[in-house]
Amino acid sequence: MTFERHIKSSVRRLEAYAVKGRPLSPDLIKLNQNENPFDVPEPLKRELTEELLRMPWNRYPDVFPAALTAALAERLGIPPDWVIAANGSNELMYTVMMAVVGRGTKVLIPSPTFFLYEKIVAVMEGEVVDVPARADLSFDTEGIIAAARTHRPALIVLNSPNSPTGQMLPPGDVERILRETDALVLADEAYIEFADQPSVLPLLRSSDRLIVLRTFSKALSLAGLRIGYLAAQGPLCAELMKPKIPFTVNAFSAAAALALMRRPELVDERIVLIKREKQRLFEALGRLPGVRVFPSQTNFLIFIPPGGAKGVFERLLAADVLVRDVGSYPMLGNALRVNAGTPEENDAFLDALKRIL
Ligand SMILES: Cc1ncc(COP(=O)(O)O)c(C=O)c1O
Repeated sequence: MTFERHIKSSVRRLEAYAVKGRPLSPDLIKLNQNENPFDVPEPLKRELTEELLRMPWNRYPDVFPAALTAALAERLGIPPDWVIAANGSNELMYTVMMAVVGRGTKVLIPSPTFFLYEKIVAVMEGEVVDVPARADLSFDTEGIIAAARTHRPALIVLNSPNSPTGQMLPPGDVERILRETDALVLADEAYIEFADQPSVLPLLRSSDRLIVLRTFSKALSLAGLRIGYLAAQGPLCAELMKPKIPFTVNAFSAAAALALMRRPELVDERIVLIKREKQRLFEALGRLPGVRVFPSQTNFLIFIPPGGAKGVFERLLAADVLVRDVGSYPMLGNALRVNAGTPEENDAFLDALKRIL
Protein backbone atom coordinates (compact mmCIF):
# COMPACT_ATOMS: atom_id res chain seq x y z
CA MET A 1 0.00 0.00 0.00
CA THR A 2 1.84 3.10 -1.07
CA PHE A 3 -0.69 5.59 -2.35
CA GLU A 4 -4.03 4.68 -0.77
CA ARG A 5 -3.30 6.14 2.63
CA HIS A 6 -3.06 9.55 0.95
CA ILE A 7 -6.52 9.35 -0.63
CA LYS A 8 -9.28 10.81 1.55
CA SER A 9 -11.30 8.04 3.17
CA SER A 10 -14.44 9.87 1.99
CA VAL A 11 -13.22 9.29 -1.57
CA ARG A 12 -12.01 5.71 -1.08
CA ARG A 13 -15.50 4.70 -0.01
CA LEU A 14 -16.99 5.93 -3.30
CA GLU A 15 -17.37 4.24 -6.65
CA ALA A 16 -16.46 5.87 -9.96
CA TYR A 17 -19.38 6.84 -12.17
CA ALA A 18 -20.40 4.23 -14.71
CA VAL A 19 -23.44 3.87 -16.94
CA LYS A 20 -24.59 0.27 -17.39
CA GLY A 21 -25.25 -0.87 -20.93
CA ARG A 22 -23.11 -0.73 -24.01
CA PRO A 23 -21.54 1.93 -26.24
CA LEU A 24 -23.60 3.87 -28.72
CA SER A 25 -23.96 2.09 -32.08
CA PRO A 26 -26.39 2.44 -35.01
CA ASP A 27 -28.43 -0.60 -33.93
CA LEU A 28 -28.82 0.53 -30.33
CA ILE A 29 -32.06 2.21 -29.23
CA LYS A 30 -30.72 4.43 -26.50
CA LEU A 31 -33.35 5.47 -23.95
CA ASN A 32 -31.24 5.50 -20.79
CA GLN A 33 -29.84 9.02 -20.28
CA ASN A 34 -32.85 11.30 -20.79
CA GLU A 35 -31.23 12.91 -23.80
CA ASN A 36 -33.13 14.60 -26.60
CA PRO A 37 -33.51 11.93 -29.32
CA PHE A 38 -33.26 14.62 -32.00
CA ASP A 39 -29.79 15.88 -32.84
CA VAL A 40 -29.06 19.49 -33.78
CA PRO A 41 -30.19 19.84 -37.43
CA GLU A 42 -27.44 19.28 -39.97
CA PRO A 43 -27.51 22.78 -41.58
CA LEU A 44 -26.89 24.33 -38.18
CA LYS A 45 -24.14 21.79 -37.47
CA ARG A 46 -22.48 22.78 -40.76
CA GLU A 47 -22.69 26.49 -39.90
CA LEU A 48 -21.06 25.77 -36.57
CA THR A 49 -18.37 23.64 -38.17
CA GLU A 50 -17.44 26.66 -40.32
CA GLU A 51 -17.24 28.72 -37.16
CA LEU A 52 -15.00 26.08 -35.58
CA LEU A 53 -12.63 26.39 -38.55
CA ARG A 54 -12.40 30.16 -38.11
CA MET A 55 -11.68 29.95 -34.37
CA PRO A 56 -8.12 30.25 -33.08
CA TRP A 57 -7.53 26.91 -31.36
CA ASN A 58 -4.26 28.11 -29.83
CA ARG A 59 -6.01 30.81 -27.78
CA TYR A 60 -7.87 30.44 -24.53
CA PRO A 61 -11.60 31.06 -24.64
CA ASP A 62 -13.07 33.76 -22.36
CA VAL A 63 -12.22 32.86 -18.80
CA PHE A 64 -15.98 32.98 -18.25
CA PRO A 65 -18.05 33.09 -21.45
CA ALA A 66 -19.31 36.67 -21.63
CA ALA A 67 -21.46 36.53 -24.78
CA LEU A 68 -23.22 33.33 -23.71
CA THR A 69 -23.78 34.63 -20.19
CA ALA A 70 -25.23 37.89 -21.53
CA ALA A 71 -27.58 36.03 -23.88
CA LEU A 72 -28.75 33.71 -21.10
CA ALA A 73 -29.35 36.68 -18.79
CA GLU A 74 -31.36 38.45 -21.45
CA ARG A 75 -33.44 35.33 -22.06
CA LEU A 76 -34.14 34.95 -18.35
CA GLY A 77 -34.77 38.67 -17.82
CA ILE A 78 -32.07 39.06 -15.16
CA PRO A 79 -28.74 40.95 -15.01
CA PRO A 80 -25.67 39.19 -16.52
CA ASP A 81 -23.93 39.03 -13.14
CA TRP A 82 -26.79 36.79 -11.95
CA VAL A 83 -25.71 34.00 -14.36
CA ILE A 84 -22.78 31.56 -14.34
CA ALA A 85 -22.25 29.25 -17.32
CA ALA A 86 -20.22 26.06 -17.10
CA ASN A 87 -19.22 22.80 -18.72
CA GLY A 88 -22.55 21.14 -17.96
CA SER A 89 -24.65 21.65 -14.87
CA ASN A 90 -22.80 18.79 -13.15
CA GLU A 91 -19.82 21.12 -12.90
CA LEU A 92 -21.96 23.75 -11.17
CA MET A 93 -23.14 21.22 -8.59
CA TYR A 94 -19.46 20.88 -7.65
CA THR A 95 -19.03 24.67 -7.73
CA VAL A 96 -21.93 25.24 -5.34
CA MET A 97 -20.84 22.45 -3.01
CA MET A 98 -17.22 23.67 -3.04
CA ALA A 99 -18.46 27.06 -1.90
CA VAL A 100 -20.83 25.70 0.75
CA VAL A 101 -19.87 22.23 2.01
CA GLY A 102 -16.99 21.40 4.33
CA ARG A 103 -16.49 18.67 6.92
CA GLY A 104 -19.79 18.13 8.75
CA THR A 105 -21.84 20.65 6.73
CA LYS A 106 -25.40 19.39 6.46
CA VAL A 107 -27.06 19.19 3.07
CA LEU A 108 -30.72 18.17 2.86
CA ILE A 109 -31.41 15.99 -0.16
CA PRO A 110 -34.85 14.44 -0.71
CA SER A 111 -34.54 10.86 -2.01
CA PRO A 112 -34.55 9.16 -4.41
CA THR A 113 -32.84 11.74 -6.58
CA PHE A 114 -29.92 12.33 -8.93
CA PHE A 115 -26.95 10.47 -7.41
CA LEU A 116 -24.35 13.21 -7.93
CA TYR A 117 -25.50 15.59 -5.18
CA GLU A 118 -24.92 13.00 -2.47
CA LYS A 119 -21.63 11.96 -3.98
CA ILE A 120 -20.22 15.49 -3.97
CA VAL A 121 -21.36 16.01 -0.38
CA ALA A 122 -19.46 12.81 0.48
CA VAL A 123 -16.31 14.02 -1.32
CA MET A 124 -16.50 17.30 0.63
CA GLU A 125 -16.99 15.33 3.88
CA GLY A 126 -20.41 16.88 4.49
CA GLU A 127 -23.45 15.12 5.92
CA VAL A 128 -26.57 14.27 3.97
CA VAL A 129 -29.94 14.80 5.62
CA ASP A 130 -32.22 12.40 3.77
CA VAL A 131 -35.95 13.03 3.37
CA PRO A 132 -37.58 10.08 1.58
CA ALA A 133 -40.35 10.60 -0.95
CA ARG A 134 -43.87 9.45 -0.16
CA ALA A 135 -44.92 5.95 -1.30
CA ASP A 136 -46.26 7.37 -4.59
CA LEU A 137 -42.78 8.94 -5.11
CA SER A 138 -44.10 12.50 -4.63
CA PHE A 139 -42.04 15.03 -2.64
CA ASP A 140 -42.73 15.21 1.10
CA THR A 141 -42.68 18.98 1.51
CA GLU A 142 -43.78 18.83 5.16
CA GLY A 143 -40.98 16.35 5.84
CA ILE A 144 -38.44 18.58 4.08
CA ILE A 145 -39.41 21.61 6.16
CA ALA A 146 -39.51 19.60 9.41
CA ALA A 147 -36.08 18.05 8.73
CA ALA A 148 -34.63 21.45 7.81
CA ARG A 149 -35.90 22.90 11.10
CA THR A 150 -34.40 20.02 13.07
CA HIS A 151 -31.05 19.69 11.29
CA ARG A 152 -30.49 23.28 10.06
CA PRO A 153 -28.77 22.31 6.76
CA ALA A 154 -26.69 24.91 4.91
CA LEU A 155 -28.11 23.73 1.62
CA ILE A 156 -31.30 22.05 0.40
CA VAL A 157 -31.14 20.41 -3.02
CA LEU A 158 -34.46 20.25 -4.86
CA ASN A 159 -34.35 18.51 -8.20
CA SER A 160 -37.76 19.47 -9.55
CA PRO A 161 -38.84 17.91 -11.86
CA ASN A 162 -36.87 15.13 -10.24
CA SER A 163 -34.70 12.43 -11.72
CA PRO A 164 -35.24 9.53 -11.48
CA THR A 165 -38.84 9.80 -10.19
CA GLY A 166 -40.26 12.35 -12.67
CA GLN A 167 -42.07 14.14 -9.81
CA MET A 168 -42.29 17.89 -9.39
CA LEU A 169 -42.85 19.92 -6.25
CA PRO A 170 -46.38 21.41 -6.27
CA PRO A 171 -46.54 25.11 -7.23
CA GLY A 172 -45.62 27.30 -4.29
CA ASP A 173 -43.66 24.65 -2.37
CA VAL A 174 -40.18 25.94 -3.24
CA GLU A 175 -41.27 29.41 -2.11
CA ARG A 176 -42.60 27.89 1.10
CA ILE A 177 -39.36 25.96 1.71
CA LEU A 178 -37.39 29.19 1.21
CA ARG A 179 -39.70 31.06 3.57
CA GLU A 180 -39.84 28.43 6.30
CA THR A 181 -36.14 27.51 6.39
CA ASP A 182 -32.95 29.58 6.33
CA ALA A 183 -30.94 27.32 4.00
CA LEU A 184 -29.62 28.00 0.54
CA VAL A 185 -31.85 26.21 -1.97
CA LEU A 186 -30.37 24.69 -5.10
CA ALA A 187 -33.29 24.11 -7.50
CA ASP A 188 -32.04 21.84 -10.29
CA GLU A 189 -34.38 22.41 -13.24
CA ALA A 190 -32.64 20.13 -15.74
CA TYR A 191 -36.06 18.92 -17.01
CA ILE A 192 -38.13 22.09 -16.62
CA GLU A 193 -38.81 22.44 -20.36
CA PHE A 194 -40.87 19.22 -20.23
CA ALA A 195 -42.92 20.20 -17.17
CA ASP A 196 -46.51 21.44 -17.07
CA GLN A 197 -45.71 23.75 -14.17
CA PRO A 198 -43.59 26.89 -14.39
CA SER A 199 -39.99 27.40 -13.28
CA VAL A 200 -39.14 28.86 -9.87
CA LEU A 201 -36.96 31.45 -11.57
CA PRO A 202 -39.26 34.42 -10.67
CA LEU A 203 -38.47 33.73 -6.98
CA LEU A 204 -34.91 34.89 -7.64
CA ARG A 205 -36.08 38.50 -7.37
CA SER A 206 -37.21 38.05 -3.79
CA SER A 207 -34.74 35.48 -2.47
CA ASP A 208 -31.00 35.84 -2.07
CA ARG A 209 -30.81 32.15 -1.04
CA LEU A 210 -32.09 30.56 -4.23
CA ILE A 211 -29.87 29.07 -6.95
CA VAL A 212 -31.60 27.81 -10.11
CA LEU A 213 -29.65 25.26 -12.14
CA ARG A 214 -30.32 24.59 -15.83
CA THR A 215 -28.75 22.57 -18.64
CA PHE A 216 -28.52 22.41 -22.43
CA SER A 217 -28.15 18.61 -22.17
CA LYS A 218 -31.82 17.59 -22.23
CA ALA A 219 -34.46 19.65 -24.09
CA LEU A 220 -31.78 21.60 -25.96
CA SER A 221 -30.08 18.58 -27.60
CA LEU A 222 -26.56 19.55 -26.58
CA ALA A 223 -25.49 16.85 -24.09
CA GLY A 224 -22.36 16.14 -26.11
CA LEU A 225 -21.13 19.72 -26.00
CA ARG A 226 -21.58 20.20 -22.24
CA ILE A 227 -23.24 23.50 -21.38
CA GLY A 228 -25.05 24.23 -18.14
CA TYR A 229 -25.71 27.39 -16.16
CA LEU A 230 -27.01 28.68 -12.88
CA ALA A 231 -28.93 31.79 -11.95
CA ALA A 232 -28.79 33.47 -8.56
CA GLN A 233 -28.62 37.02 -7.25
CA GLY A 234 -25.37 38.86 -8.07
CA PRO A 235 -23.71 38.82 -4.63
CA LEU A 236 -24.30 35.05 -4.28
CA CYS A 237 -22.96 34.48 -7.83
CA ALA A 238 -19.87 36.52 -6.89
CA GLU A 239 -19.16 34.05 -4.07
CA LEU A 240 -19.86 31.01 -6.26
CA MET A 241 -17.44 32.34 -8.90
CA LYS A 242 -14.56 32.09 -6.44
CA PRO A 243 -14.15 28.29 -6.33
CA LYS A 244 -15.27 27.86 -9.93
CA ILE A 245 -12.79 26.22 -12.32
CA PRO A 246 -11.85 28.83 -14.97
CA PHE A 247 -12.03 28.24 -18.75
CA THR A 248 -14.35 25.23 -18.55
CA VAL A 249 -16.68 26.45 -21.31
CA ASN A 250 -14.81 25.91 -24.55
CA ALA A 251 -15.27 28.43 -27.36
CA PHE A 252 -17.01 25.98 -29.67
CA SER A 253 -19.63 24.85 -27.16
CA ALA A 254 -20.35 28.47 -26.23
CA ALA A 255 -20.90 29.31 -29.92
CA ALA A 256 -23.16 26.30 -30.41
CA ALA A 257 -25.27 27.18 -27.35
CA LEU A 258 -25.62 30.75 -28.62
CA ALA A 259 -26.65 29.52 -32.08
CA LEU A 260 -29.32 27.27 -30.57
CA MET A 261 -30.66 30.14 -28.48
CA ARG A 262 -31.17 32.10 -31.68
CA ARG A 263 -33.45 29.30 -32.96
CA PRO A 264 -35.95 28.72 -30.14
CA GLU A 265 -38.66 27.54 -32.55
CA LEU A 266 -36.55 24.50 -33.38
CA VAL A 267 -36.29 23.44 -29.77
CA ASP A 268 -39.91 24.26 -28.93
CA GLU A 269 -41.32 22.07 -31.70
CA ARG A 270 -39.33 19.10 -30.50
CA ILE A 271 -40.33 19.57 -26.89
CA VAL A 272 -43.99 19.34 -27.93
CA LEU A 273 -43.29 16.09 -29.76
CA ILE A 274 -41.25 14.62 -26.91
CA LYS A 275 -43.97 15.46 -24.37
CA ARG A 276 -46.57 13.83 -26.61
CA GLU A 277 -44.42 10.71 -26.98
CA LYS A 278 -43.84 10.56 -23.22
CA GLN A 279 -47.60 10.62 -22.71
CA ARG A 280 -48.07 7.89 -25.33
CA LEU A 281 -45.47 5.72 -23.58
CA PHE A 282 -47.17 6.37 -20.22
CA GLU A 283 -50.53 5.18 -21.55
CA ALA A 284 -49.07 2.19 -23.39
CA LEU A 285 -47.07 1.05 -20.35
CA GLY A 286 -50.15 1.48 -18.16
CA ARG A 287 -52.05 -0.91 -20.43
CA LEU A 288 -49.47 -3.71 -20.10
CA PRO A 289 -50.65 -6.35 -17.60
CA GLY A 290 -48.74 -6.21 -14.32
CA VAL A 291 -46.78 -3.06 -15.19
CA ARG A 292 -46.95 -0.10 -12.79
CA VAL A 293 -45.98 3.25 -14.31
CA PHE A 294 -45.66 6.57 -12.50
CA PRO A 295 -46.74 9.95 -13.91
CA SER A 296 -43.87 12.24 -14.86
CA GLN A 297 -43.21 15.94 -15.47
CA THR A 298 -40.09 15.11 -17.47
CA ASN A 299 -39.10 13.37 -20.70
CA PHE A 300 -38.80 9.98 -18.96
CA LEU A 301 -40.89 7.50 -16.99
CA ILE A 302 -40.34 5.15 -14.06
CA PHE A 303 -42.07 1.80 -14.42
CA ILE A 304 -42.10 -1.42 -12.44
CA PRO A 305 -42.29 -4.49 -14.68
CA PRO A 306 -43.69 -7.74 -13.29
CA GLY A 307 -41.16 -10.39 -12.36
CA GLY A 308 -38.07 -8.31 -11.60
CA ALA A 309 -36.46 -5.32 -13.27
CA LYS A 310 -32.97 -6.73 -13.74
CA GLY A 311 -34.06 -9.56 -16.02
CA VAL A 312 -36.22 -7.21 -18.09
CA PHE A 313 -33.32 -4.75 -18.37
CA GLU A 314 -31.02 -7.50 -19.69
CA ARG A 315 -33.59 -8.86 -22.11
CA LEU A 316 -34.37 -5.41 -23.45
CA LEU A 317 -30.64 -4.88 -23.96
CA ALA A 318 -30.41 -8.21 -25.79
CA ALA A 319 -33.13 -6.76 -28.07
CA ASP A 320 -30.93 -3.65 -28.59
CA VAL A 321 -33.03 -1.42 -26.34
CA LEU A 322 -31.08 0.30 -23.59
CA VAL A 323 -33.10 1.67 -20.65
CA ARG A 324 -31.85 2.64 -17.19
CA ASP A 325 -31.69 0.17 -14.34
CA VAL A 326 -32.46 2.42 -11.36
CA GLY A 327 -32.46 -0.48 -8.89
CA SER A 328 -29.69 1.03 -6.78
CA TYR A 329 -31.82 4.06 -5.86
CA PRO A 330 -33.83 3.88 -2.63
CA MET A 331 -37.50 2.92 -3.19
CA LEU A 332 -36.79 1.93 -6.81
CA GLY A 333 -35.38 -1.57 -6.34
CA ASN A 334 -37.82 -3.09 -8.86
CA ALA A 335 -38.01 -0.17 -11.26
CA LEU A 336 -36.65 0.76 -14.68
CA ARG A 337 -36.45 4.22 -16.23
CA VAL A 338 -37.04 4.89 -19.89
CA ASN A 339 -36.86 8.21 -21.68
CA ALA A 340 -39.03 9.19 -24.62
CA GLY A 341 -37.17 8.62 -27.88
CA THR A 342 -38.34 9.21 -31.42
CA PRO A 343 -41.76 7.70 -32.25
CA GLU A 344 -39.99 4.78 -34.00
CA GLU A 345 -37.68 4.17 -31.04
CA ASN A 346 -40.62 4.21 -28.66
CA ASP A 347 -42.49 1.69 -30.81
CA ALA A 348 -39.43 -0.57 -30.85
CA PHE A 349 -39.14 -0.32 -27.05
CA LEU A 350 -42.84 -1.13 -26.53
CA ASP A 351 -42.72 -4.05 -28.97
CA ALA A 352 -39.63 -5.50 -27.29
CA LEU A 353 -41.14 -5.07 -23.83
CA LYS A 354 -44.41 -6.74 -24.86
CA ARG A 355 -42.49 -9.72 -26.26
CA ILE A 356 -40.42 -10.01 -23.08
CA LEU A 357 -43.39 -9.80 -20.72
C1 LIG B 1 -31.05 15.98 -12.28
C2 LIG B 1 -30.06 16.26 -13.32
N1 LIG B 1 -29.40 17.41 -13.30
C3 LIG B 1 -28.51 17.72 -14.26
C4 LIG B 1 -28.27 16.84 -15.28
C5 LIG B 1 -27.44 17.25 -16.45
O1 LIG B 1 -26.17 17.48 -16.20
P1 LIG B 1 -25.28 18.18 -17.32
O2 LIG B 1 -25.82 19.57 -17.51
O3 LIG B 1 -23.95 18.20 -16.66
O4 LIG B 1 -25.32 17.36 -18.56
C6 LIG B 1 -28.89 15.61 -15.32
C7 LIG B 1 -28.57 14.63 -16.36
O5 LIG B 1 -28.60 13.47 -16.23
C8 LIG B 1 -29.85 15.33 -14.34
O6 LIG B 1 -30.55 14.18 -14.37
